[in-house]
Order: sequence, then C-alpha cells, then structure tokens
Amino acid sequence: MKVLVVGSGGREHTIVWKLAQSKVVDRIYCAPGNAGISEIAECIEVESKDLSALIDFVKYEWIDLTVVGPEEPLAQGIVDLFIKEGRRIVGPTKAAAQIEASKVFAKDFMKRHNIPTADYKIFTSYTHAEDYIRLKGTPIVIKADGLAAGKGVFVVQSFEEAQQALRLIMKEKIFGSSGDRVVIEDYLSGTEASYLVFTDGQTIIPMVTSKDHKRLLDNDQGPNTGGMGTYSPNPVITPEVERAILEKIIKPAIKGLKKEGITYKGILYAGLMIVNNKPYVLEFNCRFGDPETQVILPRLETDIIDIFMAIAEGQLNKINVKWKDEASLCVVLASEGYPGKYKKGLPILGLDRVKSLKDVIVFHAGTKFSEEGNIVTNGGRVLGVTALGKTINEARQKAYSAVEFISFEGMQYRKDIGLNV
Ligand code: AMP
Ligand code: GLY
Repeated sequence: MKVLVVGSGGREHTIVWKLAQSKVVDRIYCAPGNAGISEIAECIEVESKDLSALIDFVKYEWIDLTVVGPEEPLAQGIVDLFIKEGRRIVGPTKAAAQIEASKVFAKDFMKRHNIPTADYKIFTSYTHAEDYIRLKGTPIVIKADGLAAGKGVFVVQSFEEAQQALRLIMKEKIFGSSGDRVVIEDYLSGTEASYLVFTDGQTIIPMVTSKDHKRLLDNDQGPNTGGMGTYSPNPVITPEVERAILEKIIKPAIKGLKKEGITYKGILYAGLMIVNNKPYVLEFNCRFGDPETQVILPRLETDIIDIFMAIAEGQLNKINVKWKDEASLCVVLASEGYPGKYKKGLPILGLDRVKSLKDVIVFHAGTKFSEEGNIVTNGGRVLGVTALGKTINEARQKAYSAVEFISFEGMQYRKDIGLNV
C-alpha cells in the first residue's frame, strides 16, 4: 500500500514512524515532512494547505490512503475534496472540523448537547467584552474564535491583562479574522488531561490517556505554547473519570454531531480539565494532538494502517485495538524565543548518539537538512524526545538522559515533564 501523510511536525513524524512498522505499507510519502521524516518516508515539496497539489499528487502516484495531521487542511475541507474525488482519507469533513476551527461553534454545540464545559459568552464588540470582564472579574479566559496555532487562548489574572488580550485579538487582529469573535469563559481550576479517540462516526475506540504541558516554563509558568511535553497514561483519568468522559463527552459529541447531520470520522481529541473528578471540555480538536501523539502511538501494538483503513471505510467495529502496558513520556526541545520569534538554521548536535539508546525515539518537528547536509533547526518546536518505561518515572529518566546528548544554540525545554506524577 502507498500512504500519504500530510504535515511536517512531531505528530506527523510519529504517524509516519508507526506506519513504517506496518507489514502492508510499502511506501510512505509525507507532504512536506521534515529531516527526521525523510529518513523513513519520501518527503514531497507540497505544503499541507495546498489542497489542489495534494489531490493531484494522490491521483498521479495512486496513493491508497491519506492521513491528515494538522487542523488547517481539515478546516479548509481536504476531506470533502478527497471524498468528492473518490480517494480514501482519514479525517473529519470541513463541517465536522468546525468543532476545532470555531470555538464559538464548539461552545454552542456543547451547550446544545449538554456536554460539560465552562460557562461562557460570545462577543463581537470590544467594549461589550470589556464590560463583561469588568462585571465578572478575574481570573477569566479569553479565546479567539478561529484557529490560532494553539496561541489564541489567554488565561488572564487581572483586568489590565484582559484588556491587553482583547486588544491584541479584537483590535490589533494578531490572529486575523480568527479574532472577529471572542469566547469569554469562566476559569476552571483542576488538572488537565488529553483524551483522544478513533471513530468512524459510529464506533468509538479510545486511545490511551495522556497529559500535555502547554505552558512554556516549569511549574506551568510563562505563555501557552503548542505543547512542551507529554506523558501517558494520565493517572488523573481513573476508570470512573474515563467512564464520565466517554458517557458525558465523547459519545454525546459524536451522537450530537450526527443529529446535526455530521458524521464525524477520524480522530476526536478532547482537551479536558478534571475538577473534583469531573471532566469539563476546554476544547475539542479534530486531529491527533502534538505532542500527545508522540506518547500515544509508541504504546500502540495494533497495526495502525488497519485502524486508519477501518475509519476511512466505516468498519471500525471490526477492529480490536491493543496497547502496550508501558508508560511513555516526551520532552519537547524548542528554539530560543518560542512561542514568539526564533532563529532558524542552527545546527543540531548529538542526534546520532541517541539513535542507539534503548526505549528512546527522537521525533523531529521543526528540522531540515541544510545545503551542506546537516540537520538544522527549522521551527519553534524542534524535537520531541520520547522514552518508554515501566512507569512514568522510568520513562522520564530515560527521556531526560537522552536529552542530555542533544544540543543546539538557545535550546530550551521544560525540566518538569512528568515530575511527581
Ligand atoms: P484551549 O486551546 O482552549 O485548550 O486552551 C489552551 C489552554 O488554556 C488549556 O490547555 C488550558 O491550560 C488553558 N485554559 C483554556 N480554557 C480554560 C479554562 N476555562 N479554565 C482554565 N484554563 C483554561
Ligand atoms: N498538544 C495540544 C494540541 O495538539 O493541540
């Protein structure tokens, strides 16, 4: 089989890495990929948002199945286009992807279907938004409606901070039209968890649980990022909490979408806050998480192509998914300046030294080959170092020992991923 993976981050490297273990996959392509991916797949120079070039490639190369990593092509309607052209693809349609692409849609949807989430109001006017926050007080959470690469959420502690966030989103339009509307929601205090499932719109198969660390700095300080590290399983998701997540969140979401005429196929990811053992949805994502995938897929035993094919063909009820009874942990190595501006093109040292380490996998995100053939930095999040172990603590020790070998100028990473779990 020939498979195309769309995207270029650590998540996509992990998907490609897992596909490469399949007995039935002969060729893997990645658009556009990165340096690490190019070691196990053929990278093609097509951007993940260039839908017409992607469909042309798939037709020309007779690709059997396409898997979409990032949210943008899904929100643009890549799945609708591929289905219209009779091509197999894993991911939700444009209508279904709204669950991530519009926070206003997601919040109103959750309200319609009684899915637990923080109370909220929607604003299109800066003045009204400001008045509301003056009334409600802080802490409070301000979210740009549309996609903002994981950076459109501001948890603010003071009225001044709130004004600044509103100004950036609504007046300076730092996220463009994604900031035409804002959601202002109550602050929830608890423990975060990521819960992802495979679904074909009918059958739901949960993945193992995980936890992301969104803030840049240790002890959850600093700005929100795309994610600085993860571990799996997430012990805060006890069997009882997991039941509540499935019964009160995941099933009502898939059923609710169906009632509204949308069959959701692909990966559904609920970003949760667990408050007193009760799960609340912070956000839905219409795709695999990054860096959640880097700890989830290394624990998957089943051939991933069987799962992907079953999703695309609506046959997920025929699949039995098995997971390894091991823990995993991923530390993200990021460029100096991330999530703000950062330099690119800095040489990365030590990658060869970690290749031989047992139970350690380095997933590339923002990397590329320089003209001289060296691997250099090419993004904010550069690498994800994943390790497996009997416990989270063992995985943590192996991951951080591997990190010691790797360096590039300005490299920053959190030291507290999975600490004291
Ligand atoms: P989101 O992209 O909506 O998941 O938000 C990004 C991050 O902001 C989350 O991972 C949380 O750390 C934080 N956050 C979002 N919504 C809330 C909320 N209602 N209460 C507290 N923290 C939140
Ligand atoms: N790790 C957060 C995300 O993928 O959105």
